Amino acid sequence: MNVLIIGSGGREHALAWAIAQSRELDHLICAPGNGGMREIAECVAVDPSDHDAIIALCLEHDIDLVVIGPEGPLAAGLADALEHARIAAFGPSAAAARLESSKGFTKTLCKAHNIPTADFGCFDNADAAKAHIAEKGAPIVIKADGLAAGKGVILAATEAEALAAIDDMFSGVFGKAGHEVIIEEYITGEEVSFFALTDGENVLPLPTAQDHKRVGDGDTGPNTGGMGAYSPAPVLTRKMKKRVLDEIIIPTVKAMKDAGTPYKGVLYAGLMITAEGPNLIEYNVRFGDPECQVLMMRLKSDILPALYAVARGDLKGIKLKWKKDPALTVVMAAKGYPGAYDKDTEIKNLEEAARDHEVEIFHAGTRREGGRVFAHGGRVLNITALGDSVRHAQTKAYMAIEAIDWPEGFCRHDIGWRAVKREETL
Ligand code: AMP
Ligand code: GLY
Repeated sequence: MNVLIIGSGGREHALAWAIAQSRELDHLICAPGNGGMREIAECVAVDPSDHDAIIALCLEHDIDLVVIGPEGPLAAGLADALEHARIAAFGPSAAAARLESSKGFTKTLCKAHNIPTADFGCFDNADAAKAHIAEKGAPIVIKADGLAAGKGVILAATEAEALAAIDDMFSGVFGKAGHEVIIEEYITGEEVSFFALTDGENVLPLPTAQDHKRVGDGDTGPNTGGMGAYSPAPVLTRKMKKRVLDEIIIPTVKAMKDAGTPYKGVLYAGLMITAEGPNLIEYNVRFGDPECQVLMMRLKSDILPALYAVARGDLKGIKLKWKKDPALTVVMAAKGYPGAYDKDTEIKNLEEAARDHEVEIFHAGTRREGGRVFAHGGRVLNITALGDSVRHAQTKAYMAIEAIDWPEGFCRHDIGWRAVKREETL
């Protein structure tokens, strides 16, 4: 098979790495790709928002399957354009991608189908939103309706903060994403990421993972795209996983099908495990980044037939095998991230750092020039390791980081702390 991967992050490098090992693969192309993907695939500088150019690329290279990594191209209808051109695509239609691109859509779907999620109201004007806040009090959560790169959520500890957030949203700080605002009840518990493949009807759950969203050690500082992850996440016991499937994932897949907008691809549920059980915080319509990196490290089976089966609506009977060993990934970011950071600083000694056969370094924001690697984004590298325990995987990942020569980069030093703590008290 000839495969095209859309995207340029660590998630897409990990997918490319797994697909490159497939017995079914003939040729792998990435658009646009990054400095790491270039080592295992042909990278082509085509803009994913140019649907005609992507279709032309597919026809030129006789592409059998397009794997769409990020949410942007999905929300913009790339999967629809490919389907129209009769090219198989892994990833939902724009209508189904509303599960991520509109929080209001998802909350309304949850309410209609009794899917557990925090109580909420949707508002398109500041006065009504403020009246709702006055009625509910703080703490309370304010969210921009549309895609805001993970930054459109304000956890307001006081009523004054909540009211200020409403003024910000309606004054256009989040652009179009903030024209509609969701106000949610503040819920507490442990957060976890749940993934399932679905072809619109059949559901195949994947292992769980836990992300670390805050930039600083001890879960401090601003939110980011994710600073590290590990899999599996022990908070999701077998029993809890079954509840997530029965109460959240399966009703969603059924509701999307019944509405005439079946969901095909990977469905990523961001969950809060509260005292009452699982609660949906948000859906994403793609793999998590960096959660995908730890999932790919643990995958024993060939991924390509599963992705193709999803695209063709033929997932029934597909099984995937996973390593029992946990995997952990640490993100190295450019100093300053998630604020302003320098680009084009050189990274050295990557090969030496990844010498252990259970360590992989997935690239995110990098570019390669000759044999040299340069940082080219906020999140830059994902140092990923397998181990007999989370602690073991953690030790290996941080040993690899020690060997990387990149003074302008930084990472968190406590990725996996919850799981390590659990291991130590067993
Ligand atoms: P989201 O972009 O919707 O995932 O929200 C970003 C982060 O805000 C989540 O990962 C949670 O940590 C937090 N969060 C979102 N919604 C709530 C809520 N209703 N109650 C408490 N925390 C929340
Ligand atoms: N790691 C969080 C996300 O991919 O949205």
